[in-house]
Amino acid sequence: MSRLILTAVGGDLTDTVSLTETPDLDLDPHDVLVDVDAAPINNADLLFTMGWFSAQPRLPQPLGAEGVGRVLRVGADVDEGLVGRRVLILPTFVHGTWTEQVVVPVSHVVPLSVGDAADTLQLAMLPVNPATAYALLHDYATLRPGDWIGLNLANSAVGHHVIALAKQAGIRTLAVVRREAAADQVRALGADAVIVDGADLGERIAAALGGERLRLALDGTTDPAQTAALVQSLEDGGTVVTFAAATGQAPSVPLGDLIYRGIVLRAFFILNWLRDTPREEIERVYGELAGLVEKGVLRAPVEATYPLKDYRAALEHASRAERSGKVLFVPRDQG
Ligand SMILES: NC(=O)c1ccc[n+]([C@@H]2O[C@H](COP(=O)([O-])OP(=O)(O)OC[C@H]3O[C@@H](n4cnc5c(N)ncnc54)[C@H](OP(=O)(O)O)[C@@H]3O)[C@@H](O)[C@H]2O)c1
Repeated sequence: MSRLILTAVGGDLTDTVSLTETPDLDLDPHDVLVDVDAAPINNADLLFTMGWFSAQPRLPQPLGAEGVGRVLRVGADVDEGLVGRRVLILPTFVHGTWTEQVVVPVSHVVPLSVGDAADTLQLAMLPVNPATAYALLHDYATLRPGDWIGLNLANSAVGHHVIALAKQAGIRTLAVVRREAAADQVRALGADAVIVDGADLGERIAAALGGERLRLALDGTTDPAQTAALVQSLEDGGTVVTFAAATGQAPSVPLGDLIYRGIVLRAFFILNWLRDTPREEIERVYGELAGLVEKGVLRAPVEATYPLKDYRAALEHASRAERSGKVLFVPRDQG
């Protein structure tokens, strides 16, 4: 059984990640053994290898946060009925999904009820980004059909899911991206207004809204100029939710907006959402999102898949800017 492990924190991934052979895996009473079909490479995985994530690697650290697969065996205290079921593997940053097989506590898998035709790659990406988009739209404002929300990093997978889920609910989206090719992609997805970052961003956002206001702003760049431009059109007392910091800067809201207009700055983190959300609600949300994957409503573009043995190329590919989609491992593909 092959899996990818991290042997040192920080530095060049070609030196710190290696493919290892592991003997048969033992199961504790509450564990399940999952045969992994697909597992994406997310930005969080790359941050984790550098020691820049909330969880710290424990060397040698199996890598990969999320994925999808089928249950092969179950521990003594787990329902035998799970054997053969397709399951989502929720992120722990402990167990590692960039592997042919993984042992995880049953509390970290969610059985799927969708048909076998549901897209494996999309299901593999369900635990993190679609759930993030769902929570961003549900947990910070009461949104009604016709309301506007604004987001940047709009061509990211999170952005794709926010736009698709908002569209389903009749919520209008104002999407900011940093290049024209990304704008075309987001337009095709059905965003109601798409704006390329640049001079007079705040004025162009206001013009696109035609006098209306954003009810919620989702910030993934933490670029102070972009955040300020979204905030300029946010309703008084409205909330900005930081879900990523692509520029590496701490999020900030202009002081006048914070004090005089009561703008609220909050942040979202998927591991906290998974920790704090009751199990029944987690199963309900993933069930709903998996149904939308099956219908083709939720779909993040995929740029490439790799077998585990080509991990160096896969990690380099996932680290590139201006990709048109995500990069995933497909462990049983022998390449
Ligand atoms: N808070 C949470 O719990 C949570 C959950 C899920 C995801 N996230 C974060 O959300 C972000 C998006 O994740 P994803 O998987 O959806 O990403 P993705 O599909 O891989 O897309 C990456 C995005 O980042 C943009 N980008 C990269 N470097 C940038 C920079 N310096 N300035 C501005 N934009 C930049 C890219 O724009 P170009 O295409 O123009 O290069 C692209 O839109 C990641 O940072 C991820 O860690 C956070």
